[in-house]
Amino acid sequence: MNKKYPIARPYLVGNEEKYVFEVIRSGVLSMGSKVEKFEKKFAEFIGVKYACAVSSGTAGLHLAMIAAGIKNGDEVITSPFSFVASANSILYVGAKPVFVDIDPVTYNMDPKKIEEKITNLPAGRQEKLKAILVVHIFGQSADMDPILKIAKKYKLKIIEDCCQAHGAEINGRRVGTFGDMACFSFYPTKNLGTYGDGGMILTDNKKIADVCRSLRMYGMKQGYTSEIEGYNSRLDEVHAAILNVKIKYLKQWNQERKAVAEYYIKNIKNSKIILPKVFHGLSSSWHLFVVRTEYRSRLEKYLKACKIGYGIHYPYPIHFQPAYKFLSYKPASLPQTEKFAKQILSLPIFPELTRRELIYIIDKINLFK
Ligand SMILES: Cc1ncc(COP(=O)(O)O)c(C=O)c1O
Repeated sequence: MNKKYPIARPYLVGNEEKYVFEVIRSGVLSMGSKVEKFEKKFAEFIGVKYACAVSSGTAGLHLAMIAAGIKNGDEVITSPFSFVASANSILYVGAKPVFVDIDPVTYNMDPKKIEEKITNLPAGRQEKLKAILVVHIFGQSADMDPILKIAKKYKLKIIEDCCQAHGAEINGRRVGTFGDMACFSFYPTKNLGTYGDGGMILTDNKKIADVCRSLRMYGMKQGYTSEIEGYNSRLDEVHAAILNVKIKYLKQWNQERKAVAEYYIKNIKNSKIILPKVFHGLSSSWHLFVVRTEYRSRLEKYLKACKIGYGIHYPYPIHFQPAYKFLSYKPASLPQTEKFAKQILSLPIFPELTRRELIYIIDKINLFK
C-alpha cells in the first residue's frame, strides 16, 4: 500500500550510530555495561527495584511464567483481546489460558468478569488457577485495584504485560509496579523501541530477578554451570546502547503521543466513529489510537483511497486463533471481545506526527460517510 500517512514511524534520535560503533569497537557485545545501565535506567523510570533485560517482550513473558512457578497443567487468567504473544507465554510452560471478556471502556479484562469466571470454574479447576496475566492493551492501563484484590483473595500471582504501556499510569503510579512481575517490549514501533527486538522483566523481588537472570543465560549464574533449564534470551549490548540513548526521550515522546490523542478526541466529529475514552484515574501511554466503527470495511477502503495508514489490532480474538482451537471456545463465549474485534481500527499515532498531517487525517475522517 502506498501510504502517505503511515500508522507508525520508528524514529532516529540522531546519535545512535556513535554508541553502536562504540559497542562494536569495545569488543563487549553481550552482557556488558550497556545492558546494566539500561536495566538501571528503565527500572528507575518505571519505579521498581530489579530489572532483567531480555531479547524480546515474548521472551520476557515466557521467563516470567517460569519464574512465577507456572507449570504443566496449571491455568492462568488472561485477556483474549491482545496480541497473541501474551497468551502464548502461558502455553510455553504447558499451562492453559482462561480467557476473560473485556470492559467496553478500557478494552482490558473486566475485573467483575474475572471473579465471576473464578467462582464459576468447575470443581478441581480453581486449584489449578495460579496467576493472572494482566494486559494493558493499546497502552491503556487496566483497572488494577479490583484485580489486585481478586489476586489476593484467591492467592494468584500477577504478571503485567506492559508491552504496549511504557509510562501508562494509574493515579500517578506507573503500570509495571503493581504485579509480582512486569514485562515490556522494545520492538521498533513501541513507545520505547530499538532497531530490532528487545524486552525487559521488572520486579521488586530479588529472588525472582535472580531466577530470570539465570533463565535468560542458559540457566547459569556464573561460569558454565547450568543450574536450571535455561534459555538464550539475553538483550545484546548494541540494542542496550540504542535504548540508553532513546530512553531520555520517552517522557517527551509519551507527551507528544498524548497530544496527538487529545487532538483526535477533540476534533474527530463523525457519528460513525466511536473514540477511545480514558477511565477515571487510569491513563494511557497512547501506544495505539484505536477507534471503533460498525462500518469498518468501508472505512478501510476509504482510508486506503486517502493514503492514510491504519491497522487492525487485532483482527482475531486469541481464543479464535487456529493455534488455540484446542481450547474449543464457541462463538459468543466472549461477546464483547468478539464484537469489538470486528469494529476496531487503529489510526496513525507517533511522536513526530505533525499538526498538518493530523489535520489532514481528521478532515478526511470527518468526511467519511
Ligand atoms: C501486548 C503485547 N504482548 C506481548 C508482545 C510481544 O513483544 P515482542 O514483540 O517484543 O516479543 C507484544 C508485542 O507487540 C504486545 O503488543
